[in-house]
Amino acid sequence: SRRITVRDIAAAKRRGEKWPMLTAYDAMTASVFDEAGIPVMLVGDSMGNTHLGYDSTVPVTLDEMTMLSAAVVRGTRRALIVGDLPFGSYQEGPAQALRSATRLLKEAGVGAVKLEGGERSADQIRLLVEAGIPVMAHVGLTPQSVLAFGGHPVQGRGEEAAQQLLRDAKAVQDAGAFAVVLELVTAELAAEVTRSLHIPTVGIGAGAECDAQVLVWTDMAGMTDWPGGRMPRFVKQYARLRESLGDAAKAFAEDVVSGAYPAPEHSFRS
Ligand code: KIV
Ligand code: NA
Repeated sequence: SRRITVRDIAAAKRRGEKWPMLTAYDAMTASVFDEAGIPVMLVGDSMGNTHLGYDSTVPVTLDEMTMLSAAVVRGTRRALIVGDLPFGSYQEGPAQALRSATRLLKEAGVGAVKLEGGERSADQIRLLVEAGIPVMAHVGLTPQSVLAFGGHPVQGRGEEAAQQLLRDAKAVQDAGAFAVVLELVTAELAAEVTRSLHIPTVGIGAGAECDAQVLVWTDMAGMTDWPGGRMPRFVKQYARLRESLGDAAKAFAEDVVSGAYPAPEHSFRS
C-alpha cells in the first residue's frame, strides 16, 4: 500500500469528502494514528509547546523539526506527513524557504511542508511549488506571530478583516498551495472561504464547514495540561490520557514502594 498524496487530497475535495488531520511528534504515537486510518499528519511546530516545553512555537528550530519529522515518517506507512517550517526558517524570502523545505524533504522524508502567512508568504509558496514541493498554507491566527497578535484572538471579525482573510486564502491558492489551514476564524467566514476555494480548507477553531479538521493530538486525547485546566473551546477531547497516564504512574509507584511489583512472574530464576 502506498502513501496518501496531494492528488488524493484534491480528489477528496472534488468528491465533497471531509477528512481528519492530527499532529504527531514521535514514531510510536504516529504509528497508532496511521493504524487508526488518519490520512494526513502534521508534525506541527506546536511541538514547542507539547513536547519541548517552550511557551510558544517561536523558539522551535529547523533541527528540532527535522528530527521529530523523521521519527514520524519512520513510524508511518500510509499517511501523508506534513512538516511545519518553524519561525525564522522562511521569513527571509523564497530562497531561504526553499533551503529549509529541502532539508525537511531530504533529511526527514516528509511529503509536504506547511508555512504560515497569506499574501505575505505567497512568494515563498510559489518557489517551493515550482521546485516540486507540496505546500500547505496556514492563515487566520498564525501562532508564530503570537508576539504581534498579543495573544490568540479570533480572526476575520469585521468587514475589513474578513476581506483580508479572503485575499490571504486566494493568494496561497494562486501561489499553488494544495490546502490551507484556517485557524481561529469565525464559522461564517471559514465557510465562505471554503466555498470560494478549489483547494481544501483545514479548520481548527473554524467551524464545521471546512473540508478537513485538524487538532493537536494531545488536546484531542486529553493529554495537554492547559493553564488553569482551561481547554480552548474549539477542542473536543476524545480521551482522558493525562488522567490515565497519571493513574498508571501512581499505581506503578505504589507497587514499587509496597513491593507488589515485580511479582514472581516478572522475575527470572537461575
Ligand atoms: O503546529 C501545529 O500544530 C499547527 C496546527 C494546529 C495547524 O500548525
Ligand atoms: Na504550526
